Amino acid sequence: MQYQTKILSSEDIAVAAELIRQGECVAFPTETVYGLGANALAEQAVAKIFAAKGRPADNPLIVHLYDRRQLADVISKWPREAEKLMVAFWPGPLTLVLPKSDAVPAMVTGGLDTVAVRIPDHPLALALLKAAGVPVAAPSANISGRPSPTRASHVLHDLGGRIPAIVDGGETGWGLESTVLDCTVQPIKLLRPGAVTLEQLRRHVFVETDRGTRQHNDAAPPSPGMKYRHYSPEARVIVVEGKHIQREIRQQLAHFRRQGTTAVVLAFSENKTAYGDAATMDMGSRGDLKVAASRLYHLLRKADHLGYQAVLVEGLPETDLGQAIMNRLRKAAAKVVKT
Ligand code: TXA
Ligand code: MG
Repeated sequence: MQYQTKILSSEDIAVAAELIRQGECVAFPTETVYGLGANALAEQAVAKIFAAKGRPADNPLIVHLYDRRQLADVISKWPREAEKLMVAFWPGPLTLVLPKSDAVPAMVTGGLDTVAVRIPDHPLALALLKAAGVPVAAPSANISGRPSPTRASHVLHDLGGRIPAIVDGGETGWGLESTVLDCTVQPIKLLRPGAVTLEQLRRHVFVETDRGTRQHNDAAPPSPGMKYRHYSPEARVIVVEGKHIQREIRQQLAHFRRQGTTAVVLAFSENKTAYGDAATMDMGSRGDLKVAASRLYHLLRKADHLGYQAVLVEGLPETDLGQAIMNRLRKAAAKVVKT
């Protein structure tokens, strides 16, 4: 289907809500990244999300609500621990996987008997969800495999002509997707690190991670989306981690220069002068990973826009937000170099 994609503003929420009620999909800002939303209870509407994104049918979608009173429409039961998390983190960047209700079409959940739900913390998202009056299934509003969109212009670049409208709410806050937890198992399990950190979650409930175990067997990934290559720009992404990051990046730069490959370094502000006259893009200070998180996808897209063939990224410690940032970088990367 070809559309003349309209850019809507906060004044046009009623227009966007009407499109959703009519079974169309609309991109809208959340506090994490832009989502591509459609009525979660209408299979034909949900099918349009998969078509617009080119998303594999077995990768399930997150259902967005504006109020916990809508939960009973989409899930069949929720354990007390899940309730504790809802109280602590909603509205906010935390997605809970729970047993689904019969009303949720299999297409939303990729055939699973569970459904992922969250209440986003963004005034335009909440206004749209309320005006639409239905639960809204919404993955990130990018072409499948590309970096998630943090600006309306990113959505337009990927999905222009493929969707009827984008609600422009400026830059999203976090710039990184929600944390996804499986609340159907005991203990609760981390499926995707995100804007809410493990440290924050563990103040409320015990959350297990499968770090250290998953690499050693090839069991089915618990979250279907985790098996796909993700978040990748056209440029080849190389992540460098360990003790000698800058030395290694300088060597890689020299190598690329000999090959005639154009490269840019994603560097922390403190390290920008470490690469001589090579092109760099600023990830903010090492001391404030929130800045790195909010810029990451934009910088990966910008590298493509400027025509770089390679992006060398300084790895960061995997604590707090660093866990989610490194998770995305590893998936985006063609190569991870340990020094
Ligand atoms: O911040 C976010 O989460 C954004 C905004 C728009 O809300 N959405 C987002 O959606 O990142 P998406 O589709 O790009 O990622 C959803 C992730 C995927 O890894 C998917 O496999 C997982 O959640 N997921 C969804 N439903 C699931 C389920 N029933 N069981 C396990 N994993 C599920
Ligand atoms: Mg996505």
